[in-house]
Amino acid sequence: MNKEQLMTHARAVLKHSYSPYSKFPVGAAILMKDGTVISGVNVENVSFGATNCAERTAIFTAITQGYQKGDFEAIAVAGETEDFLPPCNICRQVMVEFFAPTTPVYLTNGAGDIREFLLKDIAPLAFTELDM
Ligand code: THU
Repeated sequence: MNKEQLMTHARAVLKHSYSPYSKFPVGAAILMKDGTVISGVNVENVSFGATNCAERTAIFTAITQGYQKGDFEAIAVAGETEDFLPPCNICRQVMVEFFAPTTPVYLTNGAGDIREFLLKDIAPLAFTELDM
């Protein structure tokens, strides 16, 4: 599966976003190494801090299904923004927990362009261990 196809999955799930407070829908799609695609949306809450981002919803769904560190091939993130929508830093930290440093993170914009970043470049100097 190429990045355009993975991004199509991220866009397709946008309609399931539960974002009545921000009105800022986000969709994410993860390609697993076995070829499976696992999607997620942001799920908001009236107590704003209880909100879960699309990226974490997708990652936690993969873990719930039995996938483990090392099973993640790439992630695509889509919104309805004009500019490229970058993952928040909590989601980057969760990506660092499960994704290899060279995992591609695909972002898109309103024109439908896709940019590829490596996780290590968008999450530099990440906190990765307690034994230090
Ligand atoms: N959000 C995501 O789902 N992913 C991101 O990468 C950025 C932010 C959500 C959280 C909240 O529901 C809304 O976007 C506005 O912050």
